[in-house]
Amino acid sequence: MIYILAIESSCDDTSAAVLRDGVLLSNVTASQAVHEQYGGVVPELASRAHEQNIVPVVDQALKRAGVEKEQLSAIAFTRGPGLMGSLLVGVNFAKGLALSLGIPLIDVNHLQGHVLAHFIREEGEPYSPPPFPFLCLLVSGGNSQIIRVNAYNDMQILGQTIDDAAGEAIDKCSKVMGLGYPGGPIIDRLARQGNPDAYQFAKPNIPGYDYSFSGLKTSFLYSLRDWLKDDPDFIEHHKEDLAASLEKTIVDILMKKLRMAVKETGITHVAVAGGVSANNGLRNAFHDYARRYGWTVYIPKFSYTTDNAAMIGIAGHFKYQDHEYCDINSPAFARMQ
Ligand code: KG4
Repeated sequence: MIYILAIESSCDDTSAAVLRDGVLLSNVTASQAVHEQYGGVVPELASRAHEQNIVPVVDQALKRAGVEKEQLSAIAFTRGPGLMGSLLVGVNFAKGLALSLGIPLIDVNHLQGHVLAHFIREEGEPYSPPPFPFLCLLVSGGNSQIIRVNAYNDMQILGQTIDDAAGEAIDKCSKVMGLGYPGGPIIDRLARQGNPDAYQFAKPNIPGYDYSFSGLKTSFLYSLRDWLKDDPDFIEHHKEDLAASLEKTIVDILMKKLRMAVKETGITHVAVAGGVSANNGLRNAFHDYARRYGWTVYIPKFSYTTDNAAMIGIAGHFKYQDHEYCDINSPAFARMQ
C-alpha cells in the first residue's frame, strides 16, 4: 500500500492530508483569521501562523486517517509558487520529517495541484475525473490561466493574465467598497441578490488567450468615485447591483477566452480550478456553456477549490508511482519556474 502525507503552506492556509493508494483518508486545514483586519495576507504574519499550526495540523491529519507516521511511503509538499516565508515552513517541515523517517520527498507545483484536484478520490464518493486531454481554467488570488492538460505531468499554459489575477481583482474591488477580506465570497453572496446588468465596467481587448484585469479594476474604482460624489451612500444603496455587475464582467472576460480555446483546440472537456472556482456565477456559466455548446464540464467540490493539501497529495501520489522524487537540497520557489 502507498501512504502519502501531503503538506500545503504556500499562502495563508496550513493544510495536511493523508492518502492511501490515491484515496483521500484525511484533509485538515487551519486558516488564518489574523489577516482579515489588514484586508489582505500579511506575509510575515502568515509564516508565523504556519509555524504555530504545522505540527498540530499534521498530527490531526495522521490521527483522522488512522495512520502512524512509520507507515508513510513518502511526503509530498508544495514547493512553489507562493509566499517564500510561508513555503519555507512546509518545505522544511517536510524535509525534516522525510529525513527522520528515511522516506522519499516529492515536490509539487501548487498550480498543478489545483488542476489535479479533479482527481481527488474519496471512499464511497462518485469518481468521474476528466479524460486527457482537457482544458482547465485555473482562477485564484494569484493566477488566471487557461491550461491544456495532456497528462498528470504534462500541462501546457495556453494563456494567462498579464497583470492582476481574477481573484485579486475581486478582492481589490471589494476592498474599495469597504467590504471584508477575502472579497470573493462576500461579492458572491451579494451578487446573488443584485442585477448583473445594472452597471457596465471596462473589458480588456488583448490578443490570444491571455487575460487582463487591471483595466476593469481601474474602471470600477473611477466609476465608484464619480457615483459617490453624487451620493455618499451609493455603495450601501447599491452594493448588490455593484457586486452582481462586477461578477458578471469578470465571468464574461473569463468565459470569452475559454470558449475561444475550446473552439480552436476542439477539446470540449473543460474543468475549472482554484479559489475563484467557488464562485456561483462562474459555476452557473460553466453549466450554461455545457448546455449551449455541448461541453462536458468538471467543477470541483467547494472544499477543494481553495488551497488544500488533498490536491498536493494526489499530485504527489502520481509522482510517487513514476518514482519522481526530489532532492533534499531542493529550495522552495516563490515564482513560476
Ligand atoms: O486558490 P486560492 O484559495 O488561493 C490562491 O490564490 O492560491 O484563491 C483565493 C481567491 C481569493 O481571491 C478569493 O477572494 C477567491 O479566491 N474566492 C472567490 C470565492 N471564494 C474564494 N472568488 C469569487 N467567489 C467566491 N465564492
